[in-house]
Amino acid sequence: MKTEFLKIDPEDFSEEALDLPARLIAGGKLVAFPTETVYGLGASALDDAAVKRIYEAKGRPSFNPLIIHIASPGEADRYAVTDGRYRALAEAFMPGPLTVVMPYRGGVAPSVTAGLSTIAVRCPVHPVARALIRRAGVPIAAPSANLSGKPSTTTADHVLHDLGGKIPCIIDGGPASVGLESTIVKLSPDGENLLLRPGGITLEMLRGVLGEVAVSDAVLHPPAPGARPESPGMLLKHYAPDAPLYLVRSDKREKVDLFLKKAAQDRENAVLCFAGSVPPAPNVYYLGNAEKEEEEAKNLFALLRLSDRDGIRRIYAPLPDAAGIGLALQNRMLRAAAFRIKEI
Ligand code: TXA
Ligand code: MG
Repeated sequence: MKTEFLKIDPEDFSEEALDLPARLIAGGKLVAFPTETVYGLGASALDDAAVKRIYEAKGRPSFNPLIIHIASPGEADRYAVTDGRYRALAEAFMPGPLTVVMPYRGGVAPSVTAGLSTIAVRCPVHPVARALIRRAGVPIAAPSANLSGKPSTTTADHVLHDLGGKIPCIIDGGPASVGLESTIVKLSPDGENLLLRPGGITLEMLRGVLGEVAVSDAVLHPPAPGARPESPGMLLKHYAPDAPLYLVRSDKREKVDLFLKKAAQDRENAVLCFAGSVPPAPNVYYLGNAEKEEEEAKNLFALLRLSDRDGIRRIYAPLPDAAGIGLALQNRMLRAAAFRIKEI
């Protein structure tokens, strides 16, 4: 299949420029599109055959449900049973990098929810994503636009690498500004609020609006054998480079830096680290400034893809602190490393 590559300047475009991808979506085809978190692989959430194509293109197991993307927060009421907590979250953080799981009311194709009694809803803030949803005239079901198990895509080139030839259209709207997938919070009818996946909207920010928010065990721990986690996706291998990633932890930052410096001397190792901690070398990749975790978040997936090249047999990175967006970083890195931690 020929993949149309459509460049759109998110700061200066007319909605007509999205005619082709909007018609593809409305006609049951797949389109990869930019969002502020990561690129999405979209299909009409109302068309079961189209949604099934998403699972096929990614190689995604059919038990793993999809998020629906809406153009304005109020549209959630059509598909989900919302309450005051949703309205408070919408007021504070939407449109933006937040997904809310609520009881499912009905109205979308069966493959979207994969048989669950809940539905995940998100209103992205990226102008191209919102314009595409509006113009297509349907809610868009979309997972991250990567092959299942690989790091999520934060540029259109990464999407082309994973899905080129398999889908009819990729919209290039520049690199994602957050770089990690949306925060997912589940609002249960009994009043419980549960963080299923940390992201750009931090736990601290959620607690500021909702009060109590529990953190799902799956956020920082591997699933227990036979467990059925709240988010089916947590069972799966994620973000995994071909070379194994090891996370380095110590009570002292200097010890971690020293370990990484030594590791970098072996050219079969790749090292992901903070600027200034290890001297530049072809196998050293800088996540950003240690004080700016947002930068680190933005770069992580791209660096995982870059460092995963021929001749590299191991990848080392420091385990980040778990405060603020650090919790999201830690969650993604633990999964990318299959929970391998090197204590020094
Ligand atoms: O930032 C994002 O959320 C991106 C962009 C494209 O919007 N999308 C994304 O989708 O990350 P995906 O499919 O890669 O991750 C969605 C996660 C999966 O782990 C899935 O299991 C979980 O959300 N999920 C979806 N519906 C759910 C539900 N009803 N209850 C619990 N978890 C759900
Ligand atoms: Mg994903």
